[in-house]
Amino acid sequence: MFWKNKSENKIDSQQLAMIEHARKRIRQKRGFHNHFIISIFLIVCSLLVNFLFNYQSEFTLFNTSWSYVISAILGVILVIHFLKVYVFYTFMGKVWESKHMEFLIEKQAIKVEKLKRSMDKEALLKAQSEWNNENQNRNVTIIAAAAENNVIGRNNDLIWHLSDDLKHFKNLTKGHHVIMGRKTFESIPKALPNRTNVVITRQKDYFAEGAIVVNSIESALALCLDDNRPFIIGGGEIYRQAMALADCIELTRVHENFEGDTFFPNIDNVVWQEVWRENHDKDDKHNYAFSFIRYKKRKQ
Ligand SMILES: NC(=O)c1ccc[n+]([C@@H]2O[C@H](COP(=O)([O-])OP(=O)(O)OC[C@H]3O[C@@H](n4cnc5c(N)ncnc54)[C@H](OP(=O)(O)O)[C@@H]3O)[C@@H](O)[C@H]2O)c1
Repeated sequence: MFWKNKSENKIDSQQLAMIEHARKRIRQKRGFHNHFIISIFLIVCSLLVNFLFNYQSEFTLFNTSWSYVISAILGVILVIHFLKVYVFYTFMGKVWESKHMEFLIEKQAIKVEKLKRSMDKEALLKAQSEWNNENQNRNVTIIAAAAENNVIGRNNDLIWHLSDDLKHFKNLTKGHHVIMGRKTFESIPKALPNRTNVVITRQKDYFAEGAIVVNSIESALALCLDDNRPFIIGGGEIYRQAMALADCIELTRVHENFEGDTFFPNIDNVVWQEVWRENHDKDDKHNYAFSFIRYKKRKQ
């Protein structure tokens, strides 16, 4: 990543500067050390010459021997050098060091923060793609039986009895979540066995025996995230709202027109594609001809 290399390079250059600083300090100390030895040597020599030979020249300063003057000058230079190396520069050096340490720590903190953020982003992307994969395989299915004129019920009850359709319904929904409106739940004798019954109502204190009660379709679907094929089983009001959320419709089309008060929504061919159909004729057990039709939502 571009930012990573850039920041790593910056840190490397700061580390190099610190090494260079350390080298400079060694050179300065070595220089002072040499200066000290040479100065001491010269001072001792001049004092020794002066003392051994009692050598006096014409040159005096404030009535002082030349060797004392030279020694004093060398001593002053030595002290200045000492102060420079061990007092001023050490002091400055510490400031420099701590300043640069702070800089390095700050840079490292930024780097760690960026790494953390990129990890968070990666984790988020991973979670999102996992969620997408899971939901790609998820198949929210509307299951309904509707007459040619889309009637599905009258007086909160079904209108026809088609045994093969009931078997079809049972086979498909067995082991899955069945999501229904409060009125449909009240139209059946009891919660459907071998399925997880989910009832949708706006009532906050509604109790449905053998079923989970939720207050919206979205909550119902969120409840069955572990089910790869939750079924929306009616009635009319719930079907209308679920059309936008569903991926598939398992429709039993009863080839007859009926009087009724509840309707299945119109299936728009632009949105839905018929992918499978099985026709059943009228017979001894079935008063009406019907077809099982599967629709899949077209990819937008
Ligand atoms: N032929 C078939 O395949 C089939 C299948 C199922 C049902 N049916 C028939 O359909 C009829 C029942 O359908 P219906 O349309 O009258 O009623 P419904 O859809 O079963 O239930 C409607 C109720 O659901 C709740 N509800 C709806 N939308 C909601 C939302 N967004 N948030 C929270 N709660 C919501 C409300 O309950 P509250 O009033 O308690 O708030 C509303 O009164 C019956 O005749 C039944 O036999 C036919």
